[in-house]
Amino acid sequence: MNNTLALTPTLREKLNQICANYPVQRAALLPALHLIQETYGFITLEAEREVAEYFSIPLADVREVMTFYTLFHSKPAGACHIQICRTLSCDLRGAQKLISHLQEKLGIQSGETSADQKFSLSVVECLGACEIAPMAKVGKEFIGPLTIEKLDEMVESCSQ
Ligand code: FES
Repeated sequence: MNNTLALTPTLREKLNQICANYPVQRAALLPALHLIQETYGFITLEAEREVAEYFSIPLADVREVMTFYTLFHSKPAGACHIQICRTLSCDLRGAQKLISHLQEKLGIQSGETSADQKFSLSVVECLGACEIAPMAKVGKEFIGPLTIEKLDEMVESCSQ
C-alpha cells in the first residue's frame, strides 16, 4: 500500500454501498475497517487517515477503534494467526496454561509474529464462543474446547 491510496475507487464504491445501509454514515466505520483489512490483510496508519477523511472524523476516532478491537491489525500477520481467549469462561477452564504453552512453543508473546512469518499470536477478550471454552480463533475458524494436545495438533497443521 506504499504511496498508493488504500481506498481505491473500487473500495470507495464498495464503501459507499455499505454506508447506504446506515442512517448515520460513521456507524459504518467498523465495516469500513473490515473491508480494508480483508483487502490488504492489515490496516496501515495511512489507511486509517484515509478512512478518517472519508467519514470526516478525527484520526483519533479511527485509532480508538483500531486499538480497542483486537481483530484489527496494523501490521501484516503471520500465515497462521492464533487468537486465544483469556476472558472468564476460558480462563476458568485453563486458558492461562494454554496461553503460556503457546507462547513458549511459538517463542512469541501476544501481539508478535514469529521470525519465519508463520505464526502470529493474539491474546484476546471474549470471542463470543464461551460454550467451547477454552477456545481460540484461527483464521475464521473457532476451535475448542482446547487442550494442550489439540493446541499442538493445531500448530503442527499450521506449520505444514
Ligand atoms: S470467554 Fe472465551 S470465548 Fe467467551
